[in-house]
Amino acid sequence: MDPSVNAMKSYRLNAARTLELVDGPVPTPGRGQVLVRVKAASLNARDTMIAAGVYPWPALPDLVQLSDGAGVVEAVGPDTGRFRVGDRVVNSFAPTWYGGPLREFGQMYGTDIDGWLAEYVVVDENALVTMPAHLSFEEAATLPCAALTGWSAVAGVGPADTVLIQGSGGVSLAALQFARTAGARVIATTSSEAKAQKLQALGASDVVNYVDTPDWGTAVRKLTDDRGVDLVVEVGGAITQSLNALALRGTVALVGSLTGPGEAVDLMDLLLRVAILRTIGVGSRSDLEEMNRVIGLHELRPVIDRVFPFDEAPAAYEHFAHGSRFGKVVISL
Ligand SMILES: NC(=O)c1ccc[n+]([C@@H]2O[C@H](COP(=O)([O-])OP(=O)(O)OC[C@H]3O[C@@H](n4cnc5c(N)ncnc54)[C@H](OP(=O)(O)O)[C@@H]3O)[C@@H](O)[C@H]2O)c1
Repeated sequence: MDPSVNAMKSYRLNAARTLELVDGPVPTPGRGQVLVRVKAASLNARDTMIAAGVYPWPALPDLVQLSDGAGVVEAVGPDTGRFRVGDRVVNSFAPTWYGGPLREFGQMYGTDIDGWLAEYVVVDENALVTMPAHLSFEEAATLPCAALTGWSAVAGVGPADTVLIQGSGGVSLAALQFARTAGARVIATTSSEAKAQKLQALGASDVVNYVDTPDWGTAVRKLTDDRGVDLVVEVGGAITQSLNALALRGTVALVGSLTGPGEAVDLMDLLLRVAILRTIGVGSRSDLEEMNRVIGLHELRPVIDRVFPFDEAPAAYEHFAHGSRFGKVVISL
């Protein structure tokens, strides 16, 4: 789309929580800002939670949706210097968290400020990083939330470690790829035989079906000669099973709870395992840059389940909620 036309389309979630395709003017970048022509955006669990009204943070109505996008710098405003017109960029999930420990949540895309499901966005240049060169826009658009969360969850693992990932969502598959790149053994859980085979193809040494094996924590432990795993990337919320799988002094990286509110945990269960509970909050821009450097060095490619065209964005939301999915759902512009 030519910005001289000065009209663009975006998807906004209205007060009735319906995704609406809206026409509007192409925004002009102000001081310190850049205009990005969006080429792809991706869905995360949070986007369907926002649409369903169950995201833990309140969402303002009529905001452009989706926290993750990649595109090309189309124009730069005054007093900018990080990017030039034509640069291929991807956004940082937390637009004002540049590095160091998280001190405040700041504004979030899709709940406080306009997100990336639009033909153009204007953002502060500091909210963007350069895309890994070998990736397509569709692949790069999967990096800001799920991939960076997986990266943060497995930070510090090495060849002596065994990591347990749960299911085949965006966070878990990224954690699998990064843990394997670091030389760790990865055990996975999943819900079907077809997905188990794909997880093994990505480098999981063993896969346990958590539907057929309700006591999957013990099954995972047995796969480690009863030692237990060093790290659980917790996205399911069934913490009792995760603790059954955990080695003494192992870590639970608490990412989310796909089961809903999550299981209550007896603190003594943590203490008796001398366990470390580490909560994960996506990551900073500096974490994203470090992750992208590793993605570039090892030519990693995010796992994409399906790409939808922009005019089928509502169908992408529906597909995202479908259990057969393996990996990320992307909307291409
Ligand atoms: N803390 C943070 O910073 C942060 C950041 C991003 C995401 N999150 C949270 O992390 C969780 C995962 O996010 P995501 O984007 O990766 O989700 P996702 O892509 O929607 O993950 C869906 C997959 O997870 C698996 N799954 C579903 N229910 C499960 C359960 N009860 N136990 C184990 N696996 C289950 C299924 O795979 P199989 O069929 O293979 O089992 C499903 O296809 C969500 O709760 C999200 O809100 C937190």
